[in-house]
Amino acid sequence: MLCKISSMGLVGLSAYIITIEVDVSVGMPTFELVGLPDAAVKESRERVRASLKNCGFDFPTGRIIINLAPADIKKVGPLYDLPILLGIMRSSGQINVNFENSCFFGELSLGGDVRRCSGILPMVIKSQKMGFENVFVPADNAYEASVVKGINVFGVKNISELVRFLKGEDCLSPMVCEDRYFNCGKFDVDFSDVKGQKFAKRALEIAAAGGHNVLLIGPPGAGKSMLAKRLPTILPKLSFEEAIEVTNVHSIAGKISGKKPLITTRPFRAPHHTISTAGLSGGGTNVKPGEISMAHNGVLFLDELPEFKRDVKEILRQPIEDESITITRAAVSVTYPCSIMVVAAMNPCPCGYFGHPSRECSCSYFKVDQYLSKVSGPLLDRLDIHIDVAPVKFNDLTVEQKEETSEQIRIRVEKARQIQRERYKNHKFFSNARLPSSQLRKYCVLTDSAKTMMKNAFDRMGLSARAYDGILKIARTIADLDNHRNIESNHVAEAIQYRSMDRKYWRH
Ligand SMILES: Nc1ncnc2c1ncn2[C@@H]1O[C@H](COP(=O)(O)OP(=O)(O)O)[C@@H](O)[C@H]1O
Ligand SMILES: [Mg+2]
Repeated sequence: MLCKISSMGLVGLSAYIITIEVDVSVGMPTFELVGLPDAAVKESRERVRASLKNCGFDFPTGRIIINLAPADIKKVGPLYDLPILLGIMRSSGQINVNFENSCFFGELSLGGDVRRCSGILPMVIKSQKMGFENVFVPADNAYEASVVKGINVFGVKNISELVRFLKGEDCLSPMVCEDRYFNCGKFDVDFSDVKGQKFAKRALEIAAAGGHNVLLIGPPGAGKSMLAKRLPTILPKLSFEEAIEVTNVHSIAGKISGKKPLITTRPFRAPHHTISTAGLSGGGTNVKPGEISMAHNGVLFLDELPEFKRDVKEILRQPIEDESITITRAAVSVTYPCSIMVVAAMNPCPCGYFGHPSRECSCSYFKVDQYLSKVSGPLLDRLDIHIDVAPVKFNDLTVEQKEETSEQIRIRVEKARQIQRERYKNHKFFSNARLPSSQLRKYCVLTDSAKTMMKNAFDRMGLSARAYDGILKIARTIADLDNHRNIESNHVAEAIQYRSMDRKYWRH
């Protein structure tokens, strides 16, 4: 008898429906699985057979044919074990239920336990959109799935429990997501931990307010990592839609913990400088998202920037601008989102003390140049705000003074973002950092004195057109923080400071 049962598959972030057709008929005992299954799907025969046997059900002896439709898309992973098993039970008359309104996912152990799978969230969202009433997911994934409203999410521990429920002998209740998960968004670090460093803090506030990428330069121990780690704490809170987007990516990477279904804080990813291009951009056989996508809607921190491999640094440039990355493998092309703020940190030279106020640098000029040249001009250009992080002063470190909290800074950042959202409401972009050159003149109106200051700086510093645009955007953000419609000369003066470091270190 033929039986149909629904499940989902994933290409990148997009889920699509998979219909599993099972036919069990009398004849030579065979088990055929067709419809472009990968090795993990093919192996489900053994898991299904053992699960059925060990839970006291029958593995039918006749001809079993299973088709995963549509047949032209490759099916990956072991998550079809559960629907295949149910299809076999239904086809061989062991259960008599209607699967029409439900979707099933789950890998099986040999004992019939249902194991967690990756990518559950985007598949449950799709199931809900397609009008399914119920989804049955591994119990460990149930919390993650339960953030989707408008569909009953049943967490399944093992197949015996599920079969009893389907037969109406036992009760399973749908998982309900507690709303508090939406509001937590707490960090375990705070800007008030950082003593002094007024200049760096102000610069990071501007970066957060306009969505500008940042480069921190300073000697070891100056607090670069400490500052970078705290950037997500002053960015606007994640909206529910953004939280879902972030969680989707992490769900596909299999990184959602059972206890916390929804990621409610902006991600902070700090890959080590030995990372490969695939690790950063995404890849592997199942084309998993890389660090750049894991940082989606948050911060990608590149500590010791010059030490990253050249091709890794170069691969970053395009996705930073496009806010998405497409990975093409032989059979598939997958696009993941990566709307990120990049924060890079580096020492000014190999020994770390070039330009230090009190310590001697032991590097030759040649060595310093060689070190700095590992950061290419085009990459440097994309890091809008450059911050010279001086070592914290002894007085600042020891004096008992209350520092501003992240919350206080974030409130100002959110206000500036609100102004930008309003100003750019008819555009596709919504932050100053994303303002295209073609729109600069329209939205960055300078007062006369600001114009004069810009002109002087342009002549004196020999600015490139790109650097000029950069300064204009930063000045726009500073004016927004100040709640000024037009850009004044003090805004320009401050913005120029954040672009003068190339000259201090790179000297060109
Ligand atoms: N401004 C500061 N206030 C408080 N502690 C600081 C400050 N700057 C540095 N530190 C301390 O020094 C440690 C090293 O800082 P870190 O951020 O790792 O420096 P870097 O990344 O520049 O080498 C920090 O973990 C922190 O304990
Ligand atoms: Mg560090």
